[in-house]
Parts: sequence; C-alpha cells; structure tokens
Amino acid sequence: MIDLTEIPSRGRAETGIRQPVPPAKLDALSREILDLKKKLNAVILAHNYQVAEIQDVADFVGDSLGLSQQAAKTSADVIVFCGVHFMAETAKILNPGKIVILPDADAGCSLEESCPADQLEALQATNPNFWTIAYINCSAAVKALCDVIVTSGNAVKIVNAAPKDRDLLFVPDENLGAWVIEQTSRPMTLWKGNCYVHVEWTHAAISRIREEYPDAPLVAHPECTRAVRLLADEVCSTEKMVTWCQKSTAKEIIIATEAGMLHRLQKECPGKTFIPAPTENCRCNECRFMKMNTLEKLRNCMRDLTPRVELPADIISRARLPIDRMLEISARP
Ligand code: 13P
Ligand code: SF4
Repeated sequence: MIDLTEIPSRGRAETGIRQPVPPAKLDALSREILDLKKKLNAVILAHNYQVAEIQDVADFVGDSLGLSQQAAKTSADVIVFCGVHFMAETAKILNPGKIVILPDADAGCSLEESCPADQLEALQATNPNFWTIAYINCSAAVKALCDVIVTSGNAVKIVNAAPKDRDLLFVPDENLGAWVIEQTSRPMTLWKGNCYVHVEWTHAAISRIREEYPDAPLVAHPECTRAVRLLADEVCSTEKMVTWCQKSTAKEIIIATEAGMLHRLQKECPGKTFIPAPTENCRCNECRFMKMNTLEKLRNCMRDLTPRVELPADIISRARLPIDRMLEISARP
C-alpha cells in the first residue's frame, strides 16, 4: 500500500480519477501491471470497495455510476474491470467490440443472485402495466428485461422521471427501493433482495458507536436497512460519500458501507478520521465477492487476457437500451 500522506487529493471536479502514483512508490507487481496497461492500451476501472493496492494502480476509482460513465466513454482497447461480475458485464454491454477482462470471474453479488431472470419474467407477466427499474447490481439477462437501470447515485432522479401512468417494479434491492420510495413518494413494488454485507449493520450496534463518538456524523449507504438509515446524517452512494465528507467540517466520521471505501475516503479527505461502523457480531463489513480480486489476479488477467466477459448478442442489444436510458437521464441538468 502506498503512503497516503504524499498523494494530494484532486478536489471535487475530478473526484474518482486517481492521482497518478509515482512508479517508484509502487511495488514490483504494481509496476508490472502499469507496464501491461501501456502495452495493451488498457484502462483499469476499480470500484471503491476494491483492496487498496488495486485502487492505487487504477485509472479511475469510483461508484457504479462513475464506472459505467467511464466505460461508456473510454477509448482504450482493453477494459480491465476490478469490481464484481455484473459491473464488468455492464462495461461489455457498453463496449461489445472491446475486450473486457476481470481478475476473478467468480466475483458475484448477493443482490444479483437473488433475482434470476426467469423469476423476474414470471412476475412481470402478472402485470402488463409494470415499468421495471433495475438496480445495476443484477445480471445482464435481468437488465435485458428492464425499462431502465439505476445506481444508488441516480435512483432518485430516475424514479422521479419515470412515466406517471405506469406501475413501478423495482428490483432487486428492497432496501435501496424503500429508500427511493421515501425520497420520491412514488409507490413501487419491491423485489425481496438485499446486500448481505449492508444488512449486517443493526440499529443497536450503530447506536452504540454513535454514543462512543457523539460528535461524529454517520454516513450510510442506501443498501442499509431502514433502522440504520434512520440514524444516519447522510444516506448516499459511495461516490457521494466522498464529496459529503470533503464538505463536512467534522473531524471524525462514521461510515456504514463496505470496508474498501475507507481507503478512498482517507485519500480524498486528508486530516479526517473515518470510523468503520461496527456490525453486531462479527467483522462483516468486507464483501467477500469484491475481495476475491487481488493484485496478483489483476496482473494475471492482464498477462493472459482472461477471464473475459462474453455475452450473447441479443442480451447485449436488449440490455443496452435501459443502460443508455440511465446514462441519458443521469446527464440531464
Ligand atoms: P455504489 O458504489 O454505486 O454506491 O454501490 C455500492 C455497491 O454495493 C456496489 O456493489
Ligand atoms: Fe453485492 Fe453487497 Fe458485495 Fe456490493 S457489497 S457487490 S451489493 S454483495
């Protein structure tokens, strides 16, 4: 891991784009990755939950929305996606002609698993007036069945723009969906899926840490349960956590999201202390899927150009429509 104190933050306008780390500060494996990147004309995109070493060699570190926007505009020949499988799939849908690789093809997601395409299709068949909104944490086959995709960073804006004469069906995260209903007052039928990491935080455990640090605000991800969201000063996507914490005058901030976020926050907000919100019984704030990616697997996938994301052409063309709709609505003022 690099010394964070020597890497200045770039400020809000360029949030998500990492400050290049001088190669001399990187270990041999990281330097090998940067050499491969040049040779392949590749871009390395990393989610905020990736281990610090991967964040430090990435061209862009961000949330699901920022990563999709980067994937949509990249001119690189090879996209190296350090996140989970559905994120790399999204990059492939946006770039069918490019090679998209990821360090570990088995890096899944409990939300994606909770919503098989055939079960969604069966539910959609019960109401022809459904307009289906899918959180980006779902498979390409599910995206292909939906009207629009959302991330935690744009879900409120997109639901506000949804057609008023349709019955909204939101899949697969019931907690994000419930938070969006609270923000928009738009009723929605919610799929009963959740993120196995974010539901580990309880009202009792968060109340205890708030008593211990009475001056520290709590920032929570909308995948947390309502009981936890109610205790939060801010509920937002991982990228918005960065800007919120930069603006906050608090010196100590409690963070209820996956552990990888702390590295990004420490880098972007020097001088502040971030306290990982404790879970009830265990140290459960690491996503085992996100943590399947290692620096060594990253080097190997770039060296061997495998595992690659491959998708059937009809899934790519059907899933592209709701993703493009998301990007278009997100870009509106
Ligand atoms: P965001 O980074 O888009 O807020 O999403 C969090 C998440 O759980 C992705 O898997
Ligand atoms: Fe999925 Fe939760 Fe892991 Fe994000 S943190 S990839 S929602 S299991």
